[in-house]
Amino acid sequence: MLASGGGSNLQALIDHFNATDSTVARVALVVSDRADAGALERAARAGIAATVVAVRGREADDVARELLALFDTHRIGLVVLAGYLKLIPAAVVRRYAGRIVNVHPALLPAFGGPGMYGMRVHRAVIEAGATESGPTVHLVDEEYDRGAVLARWPVPVLPGDSPESLAARVLQAEHALLPVVVEALALGLAPQRPITITGQPGTTDWPGVADVRRALGLTHREQEQQRS
Ligand code: GRF
Repeated sequence: MLASGGGSNLQALIDHFNATDSTVARVALVVSDRADAGALERAARAGIAATVVAVRGREADDVARELLALFDTHRIGLVVLAGYLKLIPAAVVRRYAGRIVNVHPALLPAFGGPGMYGMRVHRAVIEAGATESGPTVHLVDEEYDRGAVLARWPVPVLPGDSPESLAARVLQAEHALLPVVVEALALGLAPQRPITITGQPGTTDWPGVADVRRALGLTHREQEQQRS
């Protein structure tokens, strides 16, 4: 996983694969461009290899070589960006085409692209008068937030929402959505079309992991796989 921030999505993946089936996937390496990223501390606490790869002021190809060498050393099969604020070098996108995902805290293609990250996203959503927002998990290509959408989870924008309150509601859905999409990818079950998850945080119909897995076809297809 690549993370520049606090790493709550990293934590969600660590917890998910510890709780479900770590033979499907596990977080094997955490990379940050910032030595002070909370994600690095979470990795250390979980006993996961973690390293800083500086990006600022470096050639993209130089960063790519360092990242790919790390991924080879750690036998990385899937790359997950969660709060990673740098563009992924083209050489890495090419090598991991179809196996590198990002979670964006808005319903792409809306409110995405360069400079749209963190509270700026939620402020723009509220200022636009949108009535819903939510996380999007998408494949990464050479542009910010433009790759194929795998899954999205609309949550309501409530009257009186601040960017912070909206961010918290979106983050809750991110933590439920990202690990299950990664699990699907690890099982070779990438959604062939964007999957929209229904159910609202904090209500009785807040879908649990089982509902998200079903929506992504995991339970159904896994049973099929077991039958075949
Ligand atoms: C999340 O809001 C995610 O959507 C965005 O960056 C934030 C990462 O938060 N890409 P965390 O570092 O995982 O807590």
